[in-house]
Amino acid sequence: MVERDKWGSQLGFLLAAIGSAIGLGNIWRFSYIAYENGGGAFLVPYFVALITAGLPLMILEYGLGHKKHGSSALSFAKIGRKHEWLGWWMPVFVMFGIMFYYSVIIGWCVNYAIYSVNLKWGANTESFFMQQYLGLSEGVGVLGSIRPNILAATAFIWVTMWLICYRQIAHGIERACKVFMPLLFILTLILIIWGCTLEGAAEGLRWYLKPDWSKIANWKVWVAAYGQIFFTLSLGFGIMITYASYLPRRSDLVKNAVITSITNCLYSFLAGFAVFSVLGYMAQQKGVAIDQVVKSGPALAFVVYPEAISRLPFLNNLFGFIFFVTLVIAGLSSGISIIEAMSSSLIDKFNINRGKTVSALCLSGFLGSLLFTTQGGLYLLDILDHFLNQYGLVLAGLLECIIVGWILKARVLRRHINAVSKWRINKLWDFSVKLLTPVILSVIIGLSLWKEFVEPYEGYDMKYILLVGVGWIMFTLVLAVIVSVYPWEPEKLGYEHKPEEDRLIV
Ligand code: TRP
Repeated sequence: MVERDKWGSQLGFLLAAIGSAIGLGNIWRFSYIAYENGGGAFLVPYFVALITAGLPLMILEYGLGHKKHGSSALSFAKIGRKHEWLGWWMPVFVMFGIMFYYSVIIGWCVNYAIYSVNLKWGANTESFFMQQYLGLSEGVGVLGSIRPNILAATAFIWVTMWLICYRQIAHGIERACKVFMPLLFILTLILIIWGCTLEGAAEGLRWYLKPDWSKIANWKVWVAAYGQIFFTLSLGFGIMITYASYLPRRSDLVKNAVITSITNCLYSFLAGFAVFSVLGYMAQQKGVAIDQVVKSGPALAFVVYPEAISRLPFLNNLFGFIFFVTLVIAGLSSGISIIEAMSSSLIDKFNINRGKTVSALCLSGFLGSLLFTTQGGLYLLDILDHFLNQYGLVLAGLLECIIVGWILKARVLRRHINAVSKWRINKLWDFSVKLLTPVILSVIIGLSLWKEFVEPYEGYDMKYILLVGVGWIMFTLVLAVIVSVYPWEPEKLGYEHKPEEDRLIV
């Protein structure tokens, strides 16, 4: 058997896993979701989601990849050939779904980093973003033409990711993350300190953290918290399974899972200070309340923030540049992780050469992204993002819990995890994986589905919702099932990490 790739060090693994977890979502999604769902009070559901679903699943994914010594496809195939499709579906719907638009958004950040040098967005940042930059079409059915600037930036992002992933894990991803992560932390720190010294910052932070306890009685707040935890920790993507498979036999899986999760969530929390201090400043400049300036999702980063940047008292181009470069770095380190998860599954199964696999994936990823570089791209992005996150991700997590908890058996995996880790887990973990998490996730899916029928997502025409949202999920499922049916070379399914016996056995 060919020796499996290995991380150069534990720290390298941790930085790569944290790099995957910290992404665009931590910077613009978390702070806004927190603000909208009860401010400081949102930390309660968020923390509960972290403890009851995030952490147990992170430990599960690390444990599974480590024990089975394989990518997500290989790990599930080793549990049973019947379950292999799930190991494919996870990376497939991210690589051929989420990643198509995620890479385009990183591309926007590249464009905006350049624009910030001369504050090109001018006074009306909304019309600049929607009309001049995106050239938004009339509605969801109209794609229009490809926007050259976005195309160029997206191509740049794919080439960069290709260059990083092309090489073996320790020389490619690990080395990149060793540069990216410290840089990301430093830049974020600069933004936070800079933001918090602005006039009006305190007022912004007060809005961000002001607890509104009445909100957390609403189930929607809880759904938001669980959804955010999944997305932000890269769970249900097959990424953490793959990353853990490159770990040496003795690795403290539990401790690593705790460090990854906590660093990620703390980062989100602190990044919120950078976002809301600046919003506070802008609100004060305009003489309005914060709720008049805050917007959700992409509009926060590409409409509200640019306006705030233009109003900063000094060195505003530098601040803008740092902000968008921070987003680019956060996005890149997440993007490369899914390329790795997908190619690792393909390499495990089909024995293809790494370079070729990564090249083919990056090329197809780029081609898929083209759809989102068009004038109608934003609408598609909006629908697809909603469906893949709300259903795809949560469904993958749910099935993962069931297959590992009941078929592989939680206690079998727990024994493995405890045999290699210094920090131990107990039966509570079994309970989470087998019952608690699946029940919570089922309720979330049920509630979201119900809401879907009561009010179609953002008022889009049901036809497009079905076509883009449901169609995409079906398409990726079929793809996953097809690759999983193809037979394995029998010896590939035989190897497993068995620390008790202190060697690799057949
Ligand atoms: N965790 C990332 C975030 O919060 C999302 C993410 C991780 C991601 N890996 C990914 C998105 C791969 C797309 C592809 O933003």
